[in-house]
Amino acid sequence: MAKLLATLLLCSLAWGADPDWWRSAVIYEIYPRSFADTNGDGIGDLNGITAHLDYLKDLGVDAIWITPFYPSPQVDFGYDISDYKAIDPQYGTMADFDRLLKEADKRGIKVINDMVLNHTSDQHPWFKESKSSRRNPKADWYVWRNADAKGNPPNNWQSIFGHSAWQWSETRKQFYYHAFYREQPDLNFRNRAVREAMYDTMRFWLDKGVAGFRLDAIPSLFEDPQMRDAPYLEGINAYGERNISMIYTDNLPEVHEVLRELRRMTNEYPGRVLIGETYLPNAFELAKMYGRNRDELHLPMDTQLGFINKLSVADFRRKLLEGETQINGNVPLFVFDNHDNVRSVDRYGDGEHNDAIQRLLATILLTPRDSALMYYGEELGMVTSTPTKVENVRDPIGRIGWPKEKGRDGERTPMQWNNDANAGFGGTRMPWLPVGENYKTVNVSTESKDPDSLLNYYKRLIKLRKENQQLREGDFVLTNDNSDTVLSYLRLTRNGQAVLVALNFTAQPQTLNIDLTSRGVKGKRAKTLLASFSGAETADLEHLTLPPFGSYVGQVEP
Ligand code: GLC
Repeated sequence: MAKLLATLLLCSLAWGADPDWWRSAVIYEIYPRSFADTNGDGIGDLNGITAHLDYLKDLGVDAIWITPFYPSPQVDFGYDISDYKAIDPQYGTMADFDRLLKEADKRGIKVINDMVLNHTSDQHPWFKESKSSRRNPKADWYVWRNADAKGNPPNNWQSIFGHSAWQWSETRKQFYYHAFYREQPDLNFRNRAVREAMYDTMRFWLDKGVAGFRLDAIPSLFEDPQMRDAPYLEGINAYGERNISMIYTDNLPEVHEVLRELRRMTNEYPGRVLIGETYLPNAFELAKMYGRNRDELHLPMDTQLGFINKLSVADFRRKLLEGETQINGNVPLFVFDNHDNVRSVDRYGDGEHNDAIQRLLATILLTPRDSALMYYGEELGMVTSTPTKVENVRDPIGRIGWPKEKGRDGERTPMQWNNDANAGFGGTRMPWLPVGENYKTVNVSTESKDPDSLLNYYKRLIKLRKENQQLREGDFVLTNDNSDTVLSYLRLTRNGQAVLVALNFTAQPQTLNIDLTSRGVKGKRAKTLLASFSGAETADLEHLTLPPFGSYVGQVEP
């Protein structure tokens, strides 16, 4: 019966119409705890997302990715899951989720779940059983090892969140491995039963009609079976330990086997997408994540471009070109912001031209041939509000690593809806994290009314990206490769029509002669489609002048 109902709901969802929707999508990440609170407990909830779907529709997003809302002890704010097929009461009920799905669908918005395959919570029944003895049916579901001769952990591996990756269990008299917090034991993906159990949870959500998954920490799935000590690297990390290589715990070849299994399953559900959280060293490794036969992830995140963290034209040009051309014709998924990193404005801003720099980054995110991943509040100019006192820190890594690592609270502050108390986040109770200081001016309500706001720049950009044929279908072609002040490229369709994007990476005005002829494009002028500065309706491409950090998008006139 449940299955039948799920199928009915699925059939009633319209999003299956274009199975390739993800190829040029704008995907908006929501951290549900921080988006909108409808029951006044200081914590955002699913109904809060539903209540703001019209805003998201108006912004132009195709899909939302919601970070985990499953039952969880919330040690890692949802990334420690204790039940993969239910909703944490903090966030609502399954009926709330079904309503969200339906209301999103009405507005043409797809819903993507977060899926944590690498580990569960230590409160998950599987782990409780696994830890109860060395001889229970789930004894081998996690990564257990004996102590060494001296009673120490089996090797020197460290948790990404600080200190040894091994935790002693008194009941089993063994250590278990955890790549993240000790409350997040790693599942043993070499065990077939584990894989099947996790795939089963994914089917549960696919049957409900979610549009796919963002796969958490996917390169961490496997560990070296020989459990060799990892080589030390230079320096000391934020937790006071020697830096260590991750060659035995990160991006092992076995990951690809699982990705192929996941893709085979997903293919049974047309139009669904697998996104990967893929922090990788280079485009070569990224390309592998799509699969040799395009049989792995649809959209592994390109974390090379967005995290250059320096406004260097040469670096951006190189990473953009690699991202566009070194992934075997697949679609790149570019991203500048998420819930784990200091917001891009604070990584790229110079303090003086932040507004122009935010528009420049938005333009780079939304005008190449890509799928674009946004993070709530990025479109407003929300900034990172890092705690100044350790006693205010909520994210455990900020307490373990203080003061070198202050945790991720700063980029998770409540969404800024208006300039009322608590920025319209909801309720009168203090939100779980304090609202960012700039909320009086940086908020949805104020910016909606200002035609020149960052929010309206994003809206125009997204609209243009959807309506303009070159931005939709054009190849990505660099121009003026030698400029070290301006990054420029074309989106060029087979009919010879082109849109030019030109971005000034410096604090001085720049004038340049856009070289179109060597790219086989005719034209000396462009009709302005969008610019971050006010100016003429057309531009002279032989003397294109851009103000400091100015962004220009124009249709080349033949
Ligand atoms: C991913 C998540 C991060 C989480 C970690 C462990 O990196 O994005 O927020 O802490 O996985 O699950």
